[in-house]
Amino acid sequence: MTKRVRKAVLPVAGLGTRIQPAAKVTPKNLLNVFDRPILAHVVAEGRAAGIEHFIFIVGRGQGAIEDYFDHAVELESGLAAKGRTEILKDVHSDLMNPGQMSFVRQMAPLGLGHAVWCARDLIGDEPFAVMLPDMLMDAAPGALAQAIAAHEAVGGNIVVVEPAPAGEAHKYGIVDLGETAPGFDGRLKAMTGMVEKPAPGTEPSNLFISGRYVLQPGVMEELGSHTRGAGGEIQLTDAMLRLMAREPFHALDYVGTTYDCGDTMGLLRANVAFALKDPACGPAARAALEVLLAV
Ligand code: UTP
Repeated sequence: MTKRVRKAVLPVAGLGTRIQPAAKVTPKNLLNVFDRPILAHVVAEGRAAGIEHFIFIVGRGQGAIEDYFDHAVELESGLAAKGRTEILKDVHSDLMNPGQMSFVRQMAPLGLGHAVWCARDLIGDEPFAVMLPDMLMDAAPGALAQAIAAHEAVGGNIVVVEPAPAGEAHKYGIVDLGETAPGFDGRLKAMTGMVEKPAPGTEPSNLFISGRYVLQPGVMEELGSHTRGAGGEIQLTDAMLRLMAREPFHALDYVGTTYDCGDTMGLLRANVAFALKDPACGPAARAALEVLLAV
Protein backbone atom coordinates (compact mmCIF):
# COMPACT_ATOMS: atom_id res chain seq x y z
CA MET A 1 0.00 0.00 0.00
CA THR A 2 1.46 3.41 -1.03
CA LYS A 3 1.54 6.35 1.38
CA ARG A 4 -0.74 9.20 0.33
CA VAL A 5 0.89 12.24 -1.33
CA ARG A 6 -0.08 15.19 0.90
CA LYS A 7 2.70 17.71 0.36
CA ALA A 8 3.94 19.56 -2.71
CA VAL A 9 7.19 21.47 -3.17
CA LEU A 10 6.93 24.48 -5.51
CA PRO A 11 10.37 25.93 -6.29
CA VAL A 12 10.04 29.58 -7.32
CA ALA A 13 13.49 30.93 -6.42
CA GLY A 14 15.04 30.84 -9.90
CA LEU A 15 16.28 34.01 -11.59
CA GLY A 16 13.77 33.87 -14.44
CA THR A 17 16.32 35.12 -16.96
CA ARG A 18 14.17 34.15 -19.95
CA ILE A 19 11.34 36.48 -19.01
CA GLN A 20 13.11 39.63 -17.89
CA PRO A 21 12.40 42.49 -17.41
CA ALA A 22 8.74 41.39 -16.92
CA ALA A 23 9.69 39.61 -13.69
CA LYS A 24 12.06 42.26 -12.35
CA VAL A 25 9.73 43.46 -9.56
CA THR A 26 6.85 40.97 -9.83
CA PRO A 27 7.89 37.40 -9.01
CA LYS A 28 7.73 35.45 -12.30
CA ASN A 29 5.10 33.08 -10.99
CA LEU A 30 2.78 35.96 -10.09
CA LEU A 31 2.64 37.12 -13.70
CA ASN A 32 -0.84 36.76 -15.05
CA VAL A 33 -2.46 34.04 -17.11
CA PHE A 34 -5.92 35.27 -18.12
CA ASP A 35 -7.67 35.93 -14.78
CA ARG A 36 -5.13 35.12 -12.06
CA PRO A 37 -1.40 34.60 -11.40
CA ILE A 38 0.27 31.51 -12.92
CA LEU A 39 0.89 30.24 -9.38
CA ALA A 40 -2.82 30.37 -8.50
CA HIS A 41 -3.59 28.05 -11.44
CA VAL A 42 -0.84 25.65 -10.31
CA VAL A 43 -1.98 25.65 -6.67
CA ALA A 44 -5.55 24.92 -7.84
CA GLU A 45 -4.17 21.92 -9.76
CA GLY A 46 -2.40 20.76 -6.58
CA ARG A 47 -5.53 21.15 -4.45
CA ALA A 48 -7.62 19.21 -6.96
CA ALA A 49 -5.02 16.40 -6.66
CA GLY A 50 -5.48 16.29 -2.86
CA ILE A 51 -2.41 18.32 -1.80
CA GLU A 52 -2.85 19.62 1.75
CA HIS A 53 0.44 21.47 2.29
CA PHE A 54 2.23 23.70 -0.22
CA ILE A 55 5.93 24.33 0.41
CA PHE A 56 7.21 27.28 -1.63
CA ILE A 57 10.97 27.56 -2.11
CA VAL A 58 11.52 31.28 -2.41
CA GLY A 59 14.26 33.86 -2.82
CA ARG A 60 14.65 37.53 -1.92
CA GLY A 61 11.80 39.85 -2.95
CA GLN A 62 9.12 37.16 -3.25
CA GLY A 63 7.01 38.14 -0.23
CA ALA A 64 4.11 38.98 -2.56
CA ILE A 65 3.55 35.23 -3.06
CA GLU A 66 2.71 34.82 0.63
CA ASP A 67 0.43 37.87 0.47
CA TYR A 68 -1.42 36.57 -2.59
CA PHE A 69 -2.67 33.47 -0.78
CA ASP A 70 -3.59 35.40 2.42
CA HIS A 71 -6.49 37.75 3.18
CA ALA A 72 -6.30 41.29 1.79
CA VAL A 73 -8.54 42.91 4.38
CA GLU A 74 -8.97 46.32 2.69
CA LEU A 75 -9.73 44.80 -0.70
CA GLU A 76 -12.16 42.28 0.74
CA SER A 77 -14.05 44.80 2.90
CA GLY A 78 -14.15 47.23 -0.07
CA LEU A 79 -15.64 44.56 -2.33
CA ALA A 80 -18.14 43.54 0.38
CA ALA A 81 -19.19 47.19 0.95
CA LYS A 82 -19.79 47.63 -2.79
CA GLY A 83 -21.78 44.38 -2.99
CA ARG A 84 -19.29 42.88 -5.48
CA THR A 85 -19.97 39.39 -4.13
CA GLU A 86 -18.95 37.46 -7.28
CA ILE A 87 -15.51 39.08 -7.36
CA LEU A 88 -15.16 38.60 -3.60
CA LYS A 89 -15.98 34.91 -4.00
CA ASP A 90 -13.35 34.60 -6.71
CA VAL A 91 -10.74 36.40 -4.55
CA HIS A 92 -11.57 34.07 -1.63
CA SER A 93 -11.29 30.95 -3.78
CA ASP A 94 -7.48 31.27 -3.89
CA LEU A 95 -6.98 31.68 -0.11
CA MET A 96 -4.96 29.03 1.68
CA ASN A 97 -6.23 27.55 4.92
CA PRO A 98 -4.17 28.37 8.02
CA GLY A 99 -1.16 26.05 8.23
CA GLN A 100 -1.47 24.98 4.62
CA MET A 101 1.50 26.91 3.21
CA SER A 102 5.15 27.12 4.21
CA PHE A 103 7.94 29.26 2.81
CA VAL A 104 11.58 28.19 2.77
CA ARG A 105 14.35 30.56 1.66
CA GLN A 106 16.79 29.00 -0.77
CA MET A 107 19.32 31.80 -0.02
CA ALA A 108 21.12 31.29 -3.38
CA PRO A 109 19.75 29.85 -6.65
CA LEU A 110 22.07 26.84 -6.80
CA GLY A 111 19.75 24.77 -8.99
CA LEU A 112 16.42 22.98 -8.96
CA GLY A 113 17.85 20.04 -7.01
CA HIS A 114 19.13 22.38 -4.31
CA ALA A 115 15.73 24.12 -4.18
CA VAL A 116 13.93 20.80 -3.60
CA TRP A 117 16.53 19.77 -0.96
CA CYS A 118 15.69 22.96 0.99
CA ALA A 119 12.32 21.35 1.83
CA ARG A 120 13.85 18.21 3.39
CA ASP A 121 12.81 18.88 7.00
CA LEU A 122 9.24 19.70 6.03
CA ILE A 123 8.96 16.59 3.83
CA GLY A 124 10.27 14.15 6.44
CA ASP A 125 9.49 10.54 5.59
CA GLU A 126 6.62 10.90 3.09
CA PRO A 127 6.39 10.69 -0.67
CA PHE A 128 5.82 14.20 -2.04
CA ALA A 129 4.99 16.07 -5.22
CA VAL A 130 7.21 18.58 -6.99
CA MET A 131 5.37 21.10 -9.17
CA LEU A 132 7.42 23.43 -11.37
CA PRO A 133 5.13 26.45 -11.44
CA ASP A 134 6.54 27.82 -14.70
CA MET A 135 4.94 24.88 -16.41
CA LEU A 136 1.22 25.52 -16.63
CA MET A 137 -0.45 22.22 -17.44
CA ASP A 138 -3.98 22.41 -18.73
CA ALA A 139 -5.60 19.01 -18.20
CA ALA A 140 -8.72 17.34 -16.78
CA PRO A 141 -8.04 15.59 -14.46
CA GLY A 142 -5.04 17.77 -13.70
CA ALA A 143 -1.49 16.65 -14.48
CA LEU A 144 -0.63 16.10 -10.81
CA ALA A 145 -3.84 14.13 -10.22
CA GLN A 146 -2.84 11.90 -13.15
CA ALA A 147 0.64 11.43 -11.60
CA ILE A 148 -0.81 10.62 -8.17
CA ALA A 149 -3.18 8.05 -9.73
CA ALA A 150 -0.10 6.44 -11.34
CA HIS A 151 1.70 6.49 -7.97
CA GLU A 152 -1.28 4.79 -6.33
CA ALA A 153 -1.15 2.10 -9.03
CA VAL A 154 2.60 1.33 -9.16
CA GLY A 155 4.19 3.15 -6.16
CA GLY A 156 7.79 4.37 -6.28
CA ASN A 157 8.61 7.55 -8.16
CA ILE A 158 6.58 9.07 -11.00
CA VAL A 159 7.86 11.58 -13.54
CA VAL A 160 5.36 13.32 -15.82
CA VAL A 161 6.58 13.48 -19.42
CA GLU A 162 5.26 14.56 -22.80
CA PRO A 163 6.39 14.45 -26.43
CA ALA A 164 8.94 17.07 -27.44
CA PRO A 165 8.12 19.08 -30.57
CA ALA A 166 9.39 17.29 -33.71
CA GLY A 167 13.16 17.61 -34.08
CA GLU A 168 13.60 19.37 -30.69
CA ALA A 169 14.17 16.47 -28.27
CA HIS A 170 17.85 17.45 -27.96
CA LYS A 171 16.79 20.65 -26.15
CA TYR A 172 15.17 18.81 -23.22
CA GLY A 173 15.68 16.25 -20.44
CA ILE A 174 14.67 13.05 -22.22
CA VAL A 175 13.67 9.75 -20.57
CA ASP A 176 14.70 6.20 -21.45
CA LEU A 177 11.84 3.74 -21.12
CA GLY A 178 11.26 0.06 -20.31
CA GLU A 179 8.14 -2.02 -19.93
CA THR A 180 4.61 -0.62 -20.19
CA ALA A 181 2.61 -0.78 -16.93
CA PRO A 182 -0.99 -2.08 -17.05
CA GLY A 183 -3.77 0.49 -17.54
CA PHE A 184 -3.28 4.21 -18.22
CA ASP A 185 -3.86 3.56 -21.95
CA GLY A 186 -0.25 2.42 -22.28
CA ARG A 187 0.99 5.87 -21.17
CA LEU A 188 2.72 4.65 -17.98
CA LYS A 189 6.09 3.01 -18.55
CA ALA A 190 8.99 1.91 -16.40
CA MET A 191 11.77 4.47 -16.61
CA THR A 192 15.30 3.16 -17.00
CA GLY A 193 17.24 6.39 -17.40
CA MET A 194 17.20 10.02 -18.45
CA VAL A 195 19.59 12.28 -20.25
CA GLU A 196 19.79 16.11 -20.28
CA LYS A 197 19.91 17.60 -23.78
CA PRO A 198 21.04 14.48 -25.70
CA ALA A 199 23.04 15.04 -28.88
CA PRO A 200 20.67 15.07 -31.91
CA GLY A 201 20.12 11.53 -33.16
CA THR A 202 21.03 9.90 -29.80
CA GLU A 203 17.74 10.61 -27.98
CA PRO A 204 16.50 7.47 -26.15
CA SER A 205 12.85 8.60 -26.76
CA ASN A 206 10.98 11.75 -27.73
CA LEU A 207 9.49 12.20 -24.24
CA PHE A 208 10.74 15.03 -22.04
CA ILE A 209 10.38 15.68 -18.32
CA SER A 210 7.76 18.34 -18.12
CA GLY A 211 7.31 19.66 -14.61
CA ARG A 212 5.36 17.38 -12.25
CA TYR A 213 6.87 14.63 -10.14
CA VAL A 214 5.92 12.30 -7.29
CA LEU A 215 9.15 11.46 -5.46
CA GLN A 216 10.12 9.27 -2.54
CA PRO A 217 11.87 10.98 0.40
CA GLY A 218 15.07 9.06 -0.45
CA VAL A 219 15.76 11.67 -3.15
CA MET A 220 16.62 14.11 -0.32
CA GLU A 221 19.57 11.92 0.74
CA GLU A 222 20.81 11.95 -2.85
CA LEU A 223 20.41 15.72 -3.09
CA GLY A 224 22.25 16.09 0.23
CA SER A 225 25.53 15.15 -1.48
CA HIS A 226 25.31 18.58 -3.22
CA THR A 227 26.90 17.12 -6.35
CA ARG A 228 27.17 19.78 -9.05
CA GLY A 229 25.95 18.84 -12.52
CA ALA A 230 25.23 20.63 -15.80
CA GLY A 231 25.85 24.38 -15.64
CA GLY A 232 27.51 23.97 -12.21
CA GLU A 233 24.02 23.60 -10.67
CA ILE A 234 22.71 20.95 -8.26
CA GLN A 235 20.39 19.12 -10.63
CA LEU A 236 17.26 17.20 -9.61
CA THR A 237 17.73 14.80 -12.55
CA ASP A 238 21.19 13.74 -11.28
CA ALA A 239 19.77 12.86 -7.85
CA MET A 240 16.87 10.97 -9.48
CA LEU A 241 19.33 8.97 -11.58
CA ARG A 242 21.22 7.93 -8.44
CA LEU A 243 17.95 7.04 -6.68
CA MET A 244 16.95 4.96 -9.71
CA ALA A 245 19.70 2.47 -8.79
CA ARG A 246 17.67 1.43 -5.74
CA GLU A 247 14.05 2.53 -6.31
CA PRO A 248 11.54 2.10 -9.17
CA PHE A 249 10.68 5.04 -11.42
CA HIS A 250 7.85 5.29 -13.93
CA ALA A 251 7.25 7.94 -16.60
CA LEU A 252 3.66 9.02 -17.25
CA ASP A 253 2.94 10.55 -20.65
CA TYR A 254 0.12 12.72 -19.29
CA VAL A 255 -2.96 13.81 -21.23
CA GLY A 256 -3.12 17.60 -21.51
CA THR A 257 -1.40 20.72 -22.85
CA THR A 258 1.66 22.35 -21.29
CA TYR A 259 2.56 26.04 -21.51
CA ASP A 260 6.09 27.05 -20.47
CA CYS A 261 5.28 30.36 -18.81
CA GLY A 262 8.94 30.99 -17.96
CA ASP A 263 9.29 32.20 -21.53
CA THR A 264 7.60 35.24 -23.10
CA MET A 265 5.99 33.34 -25.99
CA GLY A 266 4.81 30.50 -23.72
CA LEU A 267 3.18 33.04 -21.38
CA LEU A 268 1.46 34.68 -24.34
CA ARG A 269 0.17 31.34 -25.65
CA ALA A 270 -1.15 30.44 -22.19
CA ASN A 271 -2.98 33.76 -21.91
CA VAL A 272 -4.62 33.34 -25.30
CA ALA A 273 -5.55 29.70 -24.68
CA PHE A 274 -7.02 30.33 -21.22
CA ALA A 275 -9.00 33.34 -22.48
CA LEU A 276 -10.39 31.34 -25.42
CA LYS A 277 -11.52 28.43 -23.25
CA ASP A 278 -13.21 30.59 -20.61
CA PRO A 279 -16.98 30.06 -20.96
CA ALA A 280 -17.87 33.70 -20.19
CA CYS A 281 -15.04 35.55 -21.97
CA GLY A 282 -14.10 33.07 -24.70
CA PRO A 283 -16.35 34.46 -27.46
CA ALA A 284 -15.22 38.06 -26.82
CA ALA A 285 -11.56 36.94 -26.75
CA ARG A 286 -12.02 35.11 -30.07
CA ALA A 287 -13.65 38.17 -31.65
CA ALA A 288 -10.83 40.44 -30.43
CA LEU A 289 -8.19 38.05 -31.83
CA GLU A 290 -9.97 37.83 -35.18
CA VAL A 291 -9.85 41.63 -35.47
CA LEU A 292 -6.13 41.65 -34.70
CA LEU A 293 -5.38 38.81 -37.11
CA ALA A 294 -7.32 40.47 -39.93
CA VAL A 295 -4.96 43.47 -39.92
P1 UTP B 1 14.09 27.16 -14.51
O1 UTP B 1 15.52 27.05 -14.86
O2 UTP B 1 13.06 26.80 -15.53
O3 UTP B 1 13.70 28.60 -14.02
O4 UTP B 1 13.83 26.32 -13.18
P2 UTP B 1 14.56 29.90 -13.82
O5 UTP B 1 15.93 29.59 -13.37
O6 UTP B 1 13.76 30.79 -12.95
O7 UTP B 1 14.45 30.51 -15.28
P3 UTP B 1 15.50 30.84 -16.40
O8 UTP B 1 15.91 29.50 -16.95
O9 UTP B 1 16.59 31.61 -15.70
O10 UTP B 1 14.72 31.67 -17.35
C1 UTP B 1 12.65 25.56 -12.95
C2 UTP B 1 12.00 25.98 -11.64
O11 UTP B 1 12.89 25.82 -10.56
C3 UTP B 1 13.01 27.01 -9.84
C4 UTP B 1 12.61 28.12 -10.79
O12 UTP B 1 12.08 29.24 -10.06
C5 UTP B 1 11.57 27.44 -11.65
O13 UTP B 1 10.27 27.52 -11.05
N1 UTP B 1 14.39 27.14 -9.34
C6 UTP B 1 15.43 26.99 -10.21
C7 UTP B 1 14.62 27.44 -8.01
O14 UTP B 1 13.68 27.58 -7.21
N2 UTP B 1 15.90 27.55 -7.57
C8 UTP B 1 16.97 27.39 -8.40
O15 UTP B 1 18.12 27.50 -7.92
C9 UTP B 1 16.72 27.10 -9.75
